[in-house]
Amino acid sequence: MMLSAIFLHAMMALVVASQDTAEKKGKPNFIIIMTDDQDLHLNSLDYQPAVQKHFAEQGTFYQKHFVTMAQCCPSRVSLLTGMAGHNTNVTDVFPPDVLLDPYTYLYYNATLQRNQDPPRSFPGEYNTDIIKEKALGFLDDAAAADEPFFIGVMPIAPHTESPASSGGQAIPEFFPPIPAKRHENLFQGAKIPRTYSFNPDRPSGGSYVKLKPKMNDTVLEYNDEFYRLRLATLAAVDDIINEVFEKLEEHNLLDNTYVIYTTDNGFHMGQHRLDPGKACPYEEDVNVPMFIRGPNVPKGVTNNSTGNRCQSPSKSMRTRVLNT
Ligand SMILES: *[C@@H]1O[C@H](CO)[C@@H](O)[C@H](O)[C@H]1NC(C)=O
Ligand SMILES: *[C@@H]1O[C@H](CO)[C@@H](O)[C@H](O)[C@H]1NC(C)=O
Ligand SMILES: *[C@@H]1O[C@H](CO)[C@@H](O)[C@H](O)[C@H]1NC(C)=O
Ligand SMILES: *[C@@H]1O[C@H](CO)[C@@H](O)[C@H](O)[C@H]1NC(C)=O
Ligand SMILES: *[C@@H]1O[C@H](CO)[C@@H](O)[C@H](O)[C@H]1NC(C)=O
Repeated sequence: MMLSAIFLHAMMALVVASQDTAEKKGKPNFIIIMTDDQDLHLNSLDYQPAVQKHFAEQGTFYQKHFVTMAQCCPSRVSLLTGMAGHNTNVTDVFPPDVLLDPYTYLYYNATLQRNQDPPRSFPGEYNTDIIKEKALGFLDDAAAADEPFFIGVMPIAPHTESPASSGGQAIPEFFPPIPAKRHENLFQGAKIPRTYSFNPDRPSGGSYVKLKPKMNDTVLEYNDEFYRLRLATLAAVDDIINEVFEKLEEHNLLDNTYVIYTTDNGFHMGQHRLDPGKACPYEEDVNVPMFIRGPNVPKGVTNNSTGNRCQSPSKSMRTRVLNT
């Protein structure tokens, strides 16, 4: 059962490790930093020095980690429950959220709701930076409370900018993502890797890809700039990572905290001649970034065992977290 190995074992290792650590230091804390639509196969991680420094060097990279549904909500619910979409009943993208729809995918007008407070919008402020400030605030509160905690830090980067459609339909419009002002000129000249599956001369596969025309230079140029903008939005995620680790150190919490870095689904841009998007059963969409660092997790290791996130031990992790 290759497919189920990795998350199962990783989580069992965490639970066992956490039992060891628990005796010495109290129950461990968990932080999940989860991006939105981040690819593994288009090399976005190469543009994130903070991921390299804090996760690749200090934790384990599970390079054969797969999502069971390459679609935001079902994948997020699977990660938190350890159940597949057909068991959670979340099989589509109409969720409850902390960032509120239809404003979730706006880089400069986030709308958030905390507990029962009325929703609050932040026009003109950068979405990823707001998420960072909230996360750092929660970490201060958690440190002061001196109790084990679980924090999900889930920025929208590098998802598209998607205002609610002007026609009022459920399906929003999609535009390239918007980096923070301080990052907007980063990575000039970065191009989508021209891999074997990229805009191939001879198409293959099901009719929905086989019948697609080859992309012309205008489309390729648009997609390359779209790719650069995705990378630039991830620079603000690197700021989250750096500051979360600074905060953990400041509060002396680093030794007793597991930190996971992942995303909800991968992304394709021109592979198999597909326009930018996700939700297909191709490697680009389903094989995603996954790093874990924390007590007893090997450092600087790439683990090639195949796995996915729908494993019962993640339920036991959840139970453990909820019971702490
Ligand atoms: C890879 O991770 C799996 C799951 O945690 C573990 O069983 C296996 O021993 C690891 N492999 C190596 C080479 O460390
Ligand atoms: C999912 O829906 C089915 C059919 O309505 C229902 O029987 C089942 O209890 C639901 N499962 C969950 C986890 O809500
Ligand atoms: C920002 O979002 C709020 C909803 O929270 C909306 O009422 C407002 O019109 C939006 N402002 C801009 C500038 O888009
Ligand atoms: C390139 O392809 C796009 C999408 O198929 C099409 O709209 C556009 O007219 C084409 N441009 C040229 C210069 O052929
Ligand atoms: C995992 O695969 C990479 C190549 O992708 C290799 O460099 C590395 O040694 C492998 N790790 C293990 C533990 O086998």
